[in-house]
Amino acid sequence: MLAPGSGPELRTWFAPLWRQISWLTCWIALCTAEALPACPLPCTCDGHGLQVDCSGRGLTALPPDLPAATRTLLLLNNRLSFLPGGAFASLSGLQRLDLSNNFLDGLPRTAFGELANLTELQLRNNSLRALDPELLRPLPRLRHLDLSLNGLARLPPGLFDGLPALRSLFLRANRLQSLDRRTFEPLAGLQLLQVGDNPWECDCHLRDFKHWLEWFSYRACQQTGPCLHGLRSVRKIPVS
Ligand SMILES: *[C@@H]1O[C@H](CO)[C@@H](O)[C@H](O)[C@H]1NC(C)=O
Ligand SMILES: *[C@@H]1O[C@H](CO)[C@@H](O)[C@H](O)[C@H]1NC(C)=O
Repeated sequence: MLAPGSGPELRTWFAPLWRQISWLTCWIALCTAEALPACPLPCTCDGHGLQVDCSGRGLTALPPDLPAATRTLLLLNNRLSFLPGGAFASLSGLQRLDLSNNFLDGLPRTAFGELANLTELQLRNNSLRALDPELLRPLPRLRHLDLSLNGLARLPPGLFDGLPALRSLFLRANRLQSLDRRTFEPLAGLQLLQVGDNPWECDCHLRDFKHWLEWFSYRACQQTGPCLHGLRSVRKIPVS
C-alpha cells in the first residue's frame, strides 16, 4: 500500500520506463509484421501465408508478390486468359494450384517450371485446345490432374511422360476423338481415370486404347472399386 504523497514520485520514476516498454512493444510488432509474408492485395492468406486464396476476384493477371512460402494457391473463378512462362517460378514449394473456371486458351511450355513439389493441378473448365508435350514434365510429384471441361482435341505423345506419381486424371468433357495407349503407358500409378463425355470416333486406334484400358481396369480397379468413368460408348466396340 502506497503512503499518501508517493503517487507523483512513482509516476516520475515510472514514466521513462513506460516509454521504453512502449518502444520495445512497437519495435517487436514491426519486426513480426516484417517476418510474416505480405498477402497480395486482392487475396486472403491464412496465418502463415501458406494458403493464398485469390479466387473469384475478377483477376485478368496473376497478382504480383505472391509469398514465396505459398503451398496452396487458389486462382479459380477468375478471368485469366493466359499465363506467362515461368509464371510460378518463385513458388517452388507450391503443392496445390487451382486454376479452374478461367479462360485459359493455351499454356506456355514453361508455365509450370520449377514446381517440383506440386501434387495437385486443377485446370478444369478453361478453354484449352492443345497442350505442349513438355508442359507437365517438371511435375514429378503430381498426383491429381484435372483437365475436364476444356476443348482438347488430342493429347500429344509424351504429355504424361514425367508423371510417375499421377493417381487421378480427369479428361471428361473435352473434344477427344481418340486416345493413344502409348501416351498413357508411363502412368504407372494411375488409379482413377475419367474420360466420359467426349466425341469418340470408334476406329482401331481407340480399340487399341480399349485393350489397354481393360488391362488398366484389371490392374487398377481390383482394390479401388469403380475407377473408370464414362467409357460406356467405348466399351461397346467389338473386340476382335
Ligand atoms: C519439396 O518437398 C521436400 C519433401 O517434402 C522438401 O524437403 C523440400 O524442401 C520441398 N521443396 C521446396 C522448394 O519447398
Ligand atoms: C465454367 O466457367 C465459366 C466462367 O468462369 C462459368 O461461368 C461456368 O459456370 C463454369 N462452368 C462449370 C460447369 O463449372
